[in-house]
Amino acid sequence: MSPAHPEVRVLLAADAAVPVLLDEVRQVMARRESPLISFATGSTFGAFLRALGGELQQGGLAVTAFNATHLDEYIGFEPTRRGGMVQELTMRCPAFRDMLARGKFLPVPCYGAAGSITGHEARLARAGGIALQLLGLGRNGHIAFNEPGTPFESGFHVTQLAETTRADAAPSFAPDEPPDRAVTAGIASILGAERIVLCAFGRGKAHAVQAMLHGDVTPALPASALRRHGNTLVLLDREAAIEIEGGAAAGS
Ligand code: GLP
Repeated sequence: MSPAHPEVRVLLAADAAVPVLLDEVRQVMARRESPLISFATGSTFGAFLRALGGELQQGGLAVTAFNATHLDEYIGFEPTRRGGMVQELTMRCPAFRDMLARGKFLPVPCYGAAGSITGHEARLARAGGIALQLLGLGRNGHIAFNEPGTPFESGFHVTQLAETTRADAAPSFAPDEPPDRAVTAGIASILGAERIVLCAFGRGKAHAVQAMLHGDVTPALPASALRRHGNTLVLLDREAAIEIEGGAAAGS
């Protein structure tokens, strides 16, 4: 099977991704009843999550119209613990807190016990599977916490974080050490989504972007697995696109 080519859009600036992502949310709500949307954390999604929070609060989007989940969680980080992924998501988008209380937000189990992981995968399947998966990109080419070398066949699992990943996370945890293990959606879990939208912004992501789109499809560069998925959109700002096609022409 020859690799699929994700649709790539180069934006004038990262902020231009916000309306595109809100539109993706609207589209999946129109296409599916109570779709399960899986959100990503990281600075990449801050502006979008705040905008989504505003839409949900003001009724521009119906909080009852979808179910939510996310990609990964640090080991031992319960939903309210500072620095955790669920805590980050609920701070940015407070509507997720109510969804969590009502069982409409499915948190990744944070202790990594095998039964909790299979239980989570079963809950995602009962919710219809992931209709829309939002994804960031690590500068080492990771997606979620699938570090280089993770098999493409992987489901949810416990993983050891790469040193670059820990270094990137360190400022959020200082003066404490950043966590070294997490529970993450696997690459097969991610590829199981109907629609994937990956965002990468800034010069620091440019090399991983180039390798993801034009390098070998290999576990050494986890994001290259997206070329085995037929319905993926990649949103870049100009700096992240600098190593592809000489920077590619910016669209909007
Ligand atoms: C963490 C998350 C990833 C995310 C990445 C990028 O490693 N597990 O899902 O894509 O950070 O973060 P940022 O958006 O801050 O660059």
